[in-house]
Amino acid sequence: MKKIIALILALAMVFSFTACGGGSSDSGKSVIDDIKAKGKLTVGTSADYPPYEFHTEIDGVDTIVGFDIAIAKAIADDLGVELEIVDMSFDNLLMSLANGEFDMVIAAITSNEEREKAVDFSDPYLVSKNLILVKTENAGKYKTIDDIAGAKGGAQTGTITYDRCVQYVGEATTVGLAKVQDLVMELQAGKLDLLFLDYMTVLTYAEVKDDLEAVDVNIPSDAEGYQIAVKEGNSELQQYINGVLAKLLAENAIEGFIVEAQQQAGMDE
Ligand code: ARG
Repeated sequence: MKKIIALILALAMVFSFTACGGGSSDSGKSVIDDIKAKGKLTVGTSADYPPYEFHTEIDGVDTIVGFDIAIAKAIADDLGVELEIVDMSFDNLLMSLANGEFDMVIAAITSNEEREKAVDFSDPYLVSKNLILVKTENAGKYKTIDDIAGAKGGAQTGTITYDRCVQYVGEATTVGLAKVQDLVMELQAGKLDLLFLDYMTVLTYAEVKDDLEAVDVNIPSDAEGYQIAVKEGNSELQQYINGVLAKLLAENAIEGFIVEAQQQAGMDE
């Protein structure tokens, strides 16, 4: 036992020794220096959510883009490291983060009490809001939140948006699927009446698909905005991220990222 403690202490000293200057956490080991030593910032996302994060072809190569990804890239650039994206199903993201599979998660995610128990969040970088996506021919049917009760609603599994759908449409008629693209297909096929999604995604699909339309039924929001998640207790990276976000917000850089992502999602066509 003593030997192990001595070894951990020795290792901790090595880390704090190489840490020269960088803010170090309680253990004396700097998370930021670890990322720099690794040469990459590993970021988890669910790339099925244009324009936040999605797949597109750039010069014939499948690439993950979006304004969340641009924010992640800005953080990696600030750290002077490469950005590595890990794409997975949304409902596995926070668990994988807690298991140490990546440094942070950016995925149009907002915090709530349950998530706060598992991970920590940065400051918000953009106001969050939900809209519903419907077939154009049905757009007139839904004006207020009362009009959607009992409709067949679709939402992504493991999201707060899903919980809202259950709340306002009803448990019995809510369908959860892991991938947003599958939800959109079900909606287009007439198997679902409406989808609960984050507003930018709804606006993108409404613009890109002729048969779909965005409707604002004023879904109440209790979240202050989208935030980046880090491992529980990783206040060093959390503070670093907050510093970069503050800079990006002060420069109005995020607006530029949004415009570019919308274009990449085909919104200018
Ligand atoms: N904003 C919702 C939430 O926090 C849904 C986010 C879904 N994100 C995604 N990349 N598919 O639960």
